[in-house]
Amino acid sequence: MASNSALLPVTFHRFHRAIRKQLLAWFQKEAKSFPWRRLEPEEGGAVIVDPYVVLVSEVMLQQTQSARVAARLPEFLRQFPTVAALAAASKGDLLRAWQGLGYNRRALRLQLAARGILEHHSGVFPRSAQQLRALPGLGEYTVAAIQCFAFGMDVPVVDVNVQRVLSRLLFRCHGARQVMPPATVAAVAAAILPAGDSFRWHQALMDLGSTICTARKPRCSVCPARRNCASGPISQLALFHPDDVRPPEPTLCGIPRRFWRGKMVETLRHAKAGVPAHQLVAEAAKLLGYQKKMKLKEERDGLEILATLIQEGLAARTGVQEGELREGDLVMLPG
Ligand code: ADE
Repeated sequence: MASNSALLPVTFHRFHRAIRKQLLAWFQKEAKSFPWRRLEPEEGGAVIVDPYVVLVSEVMLQQTQSARVAARLPEFLRQFPTVAALAAASKGDLLRAWQGLGYNRRALRLQLAARGILEHHSGVFPRSAQQLRALPGLGEYTVAAIQCFAFGMDVPVVDVNVQRVLSRLLFRCHGARQVMPPATVAAVAAAILPAGDSFRWHQALMDLGSTICTARKPRCSVCPARRNCASGPISQLALFHPDDVRPPEPTLCGIPRRFWRGKMVETLRHAKAGVPAHQLVAEAAKLLGYQKKMKLKEERDGLEILATLIQEGLAARTGVQEGELREGDLVMLPG
C-alpha cells in the first residue's frame, strides 16, 4: 500500500512487522464471533462479506456497542433483507426497527444510502471510493469499511479506536487522549496493513481497541504487542490523566438532550395515534425518571427538542405542517 513514508514515526520500521504478526496471531486465537464477520463463500475471491451487511453493521457500530449491534442486527436484516427492502421501507417502520440502537438519525442516513445505491447503481454496491463517496449518507469511514470488509481491498479503515491503537503502538503517547497527527495516522495505517489480509487486520485492531487497548483503562499487561509498543513504558497513571474529561453536553432538567430525543422517539414507536406535543414531553420526562414538575421554560425547551426531531424527519406533525410547534399539535412517527 502506498503511503507517505516521510511521515512515519522513527520507530515504525523497527517494530511494525513484529506488531503486525503479534496482533494477527492474537486475533487468530481470540477473535470475537460477530454476525458481520461471517464470511461468504468466496465468489472468485470477490466478495468477503455481503456489502449490505457491512453497510448496515458499520453504521450501527458507529455509536452503539458491538454486543448490542450483534443482538439487534439479525432481526433488522430479517426485516430489511436487501438494499431494495431498506430503500422501500416507511420511515416509521425503519425507526421502529431501530429500537434499542439509539441515535436514530443514523437509520434515516442508512436509508438515504440504500436509496442512492438503488437509484444510481441498480441496487449493486459500487466498489470505487469515488462512487461510494458520491452516495448520500456515507462518510469516509464507511466508504473504507465497505471497500475493505466487503470487497477485501487493501485500504486503511480508521475510526477513533483504530486511530488510538495505532497511535499508542507506533508513536510514543504521553497521555490517554494523545494520538498521532492525522497525516501520520493516515501514513501509518496505510503502511502497516498486510497486503491481502486487510479484513483480518482491521478486525484485529478493532477487537484490541475494544477489549485491551481501551480509551480509559488499557490493560497493557495482557496486550499481545506489549513488548513492542511505543507507549508501553508510559505508566498507567499517565494514561489516566485528570484532564481527561469530556466537554459538557447540552441538557434539559439536568438530563442530556440526546436522552430526551431518544425517549420522545421511543414514545412514538409505541403510540397507536398522534400524541399531543406537550404530552410527548411529559412522557419522555416520565421515562427518564424526572419526577419534578417541569417549569414553563423547561416545557418550552422540551417542545423545542421535539421541533428539532420533526425538522430532522424523525417525527411528523399530523395535520398542521407549518409554523411553530404548539403544545396541542399531534405528533407521530413519519410515514
Ligand atoms: N467497530 C466498528 N466496526 C467494527 C467491527 N467491524 N468489528 C468490531 N467493532 C467494530
